[in-house]
Amino acid sequence: MAKKKLQHFAEVETFSNVFQHMQHGPELEDLPLKGKWNEEYFKNNNPIVLEVGCGKGEYTIGLAERFPEKNFIGADLKGARIWRGSKTAIENNMKNVAFLRVRIEQIEKMFAKGEISEIWITFPDPQPQEKREKKRLTSPRFIAKYKNILTPEGKINLKTDSEFFYNYTMEVIKQSNYKLLESTNNLYDHARTMAYSDELESLLNIKTYYEQKFTAKGFNICYAKFEIS
Ligand SMILES: C[S@@+](CC[C@H](N)C(=O)[O-])C[C@H]1O[C@@H](n2cnc3c(N)ncnc32)[C@H](O)[C@@H]1O
Repeated sequence: MAKKKLQHFAEVETFSNVFQHMQHGPELEDLPLKGKWNEEYFKNNNPIVLEVGCGKGEYTIGLAERFPEKNFIGADLKGARIWRGSKTAIENNMKNVAFLRVRIEQIEKMFAKGEISEIWITFPDPQPQEKREKKRLTSPRFIAKYKNILTPEGKINLKTDSEFFYNYTMEVIKQSNYKLLESTNNLYDHARTMAYSDELESLLNIKTYYEQKFTAKGFNICYAKFEIS
């Protein structure tokens, strides 16, 4: 492993805004903060928004800057990526941000039922091979887990450069009769006739590492927001 990556790995262990809960197997115990994030970490009663597969955490940080009255948690299994977001949050003294180094498969060990008010899935690995369907972060397997941590009116947002992944998610929404609130397969279509609300416009303008990479290559960005209750 590169020296810098190793340094980031070691440093992230010392950060007070990062929680790592990674051992393998179904025996993984609940994270001690499960059900107590607001009481013991954020020390307020604000809604908690979770980003799954947050990478370097640009979305978590961008949302936390725009919405100081909400709490934000970025989750990813890669410690060296999480380092970037958590370092920025520490440098900017952001009290409404935390990062979790976990497998999303075990997300129910991290949060109690109804503890999360909204989920963001930003530029997930599309996993196009049929046999990897269950690894897709909007597959029924993951949605069932999100249902167990979201509030009844909780929302899921997806931003992706992959038309394949977007269409797959639309099919999951349709099959399960979930309530589709917003959807477009070309978010930045300048010729669009539909105006977005100021809030949506400001949210969608946060660009992650992967979004910048794919828009530079000319990919359209797709966006969907839906409810699973
Ligand atoms: C393509 S990257 C996108 C990162 C970031 N959201 C962005 O837009 O720049 C996908 C991220 O999802 C994470 N990821 C994929 N499957 C995961 C899982 N099952 N549990 C935790 N993280 C996962 C990967 O480690 C990776 O950082």
